[in-house]
Amino acid sequence: MNSKALAVLGCSLLLLIVAECREKEKPPRATEKKVMKEPKPNELKPPRATAPKLQQATAKPSKAKPRGKPVAPPSLVHPPASILTRVVARGRFQKVLDSLTLPAGDTLELRCKGRAVRWRFPAYLEDEGEGRLRIKHFERHSQLLVVDATAADTGEYSCWAFQCGDSECRDGADRTGRVFIFFTDPQELFVPTEDYYEVVQLRTNRPTLLPCQVTNPLAQVTLHREFPPEEVAVDGIDISYDTKRGFTIHRPRPSYAGSLFCMASLDGVRQISTKYMLIYINYPSSAPKPMVSASAATVWARENFNVTCTVFGEPEVAVDFTWEYPGQQVGRPPYSREHAELVRRGGQVQQESESVLYVDEARAVDEGLYTCRATNLQGTTSVSTRVRVLPATPAPRGT
Ligand SMILES: *[C@@H]1O[C@H](CO)[C@@H](O)[C@H](O)[C@H]1NC(C)=O
Repeated sequence: MNSKALAVLGCSLLLLIVAECREKEKPPRATEKKVMKEPKPNELKPPRATAPKLQQATAKPSKAKPRGKPVAPPSLVHPPASILTRVVARGRFQKVLDSLTLPAGDTLELRCKGRAVRWRFPAYLEDEGEGRLRIKHFERHSQLLVVDATAADTGEYSCWAFQCGDSECRDGADRTGRVFIFFTDPQELFVPTEDYYEVVQLRTNRPTLLPCQVTNPLAQVTLHREFPPEEVAVDGIDISYDTKRGFTIHRPRPSYAGSLFCMASLDGVRQISTKYMLIYINYPSSAPKPMVSASAATVWARENFNVTCTVFGEPEVAVDFTWEYPGQQVGRPPYSREHAELVRRGGQVQQESESVLYVDEARAVDEGLYTCRATNLQGTTSVSTRVRVLPATPAPRGT
């Protein structure tokens, strides 16, 4: 190893150690407590408006159902003009563009025009339960307030308004507004997360996101491998970076597997992100297509038989087999054996996965349908075959 390489290695190790220390010093996000200004009593009063209190869109339907429910995600709707504004001071409004940068500790006030408004905001704000987020609905607008904002509140804030008649709100969002807000904190260049390590599947069939989000769009962000310590080249084609999302690996390769992390630097401060443990997964292009056949469609009682289930598929894609058979209810104990091997088929190398179900000394209860269920990461396919069991003849084998 030459001196340059040694120096690079030394520096990377040092950086890692510094980063570890930083990581340890940092209190976990969940336990983070910040002194909160007491809300004035009049702020706690429910608004006069008749709309339900909290109407943000979440995956689970809320019990307090508003009169209309969102169907189209707001990302599918392109608004003619934003209905979202920021309240800078009492009576002073600011149009919001694509993104906004505010210092942590500030209070964010957004206003969304419309009669039935729903909000979406970083999940952390909802989980936190400290009441720093307040939403109030008024007759013609809705207000979202985040008091004493932290770096963790960085993310997209959006609202959408529904067209409401006298009694019904129409399904589907009519108008939307969105803004990405960076809450800068010199101590937290990355949006804090709860995990020190995150396992990320590097699937062959889709891009992979490493969500190291920065709290300041001006931070310089690079991608690094932990062992051996080295910077990963980001060319914008195979891997690209977006300040609002993180790094995206567009073309997963086995060589990217391992532990990666992002490093941000700004004004002489350097920090590393959560570590991403990338696991390369050969993802099948489709669900398995099994074939099933019995060694004989008709067997004599007391004879042995077997049923074979075969799947041809891409190499290194695991296939799991399960069986359903007539003797199952009465606890007949057939046993199965599985194996997989690479074969050449139609000029291609394929993996032949096989499960053989053995039935020893057939009985009347073994007659019926034998179903093989083959599963890979894309799905499950079942195939069946029927086996008939004939009563034993007086002396079929000369016994
Ligand atoms: C299945 O049973 C048939 C008939 O008993 C036998 O010839 C064959 O070898 C068996 N197959 C396997 C895979 O054991």
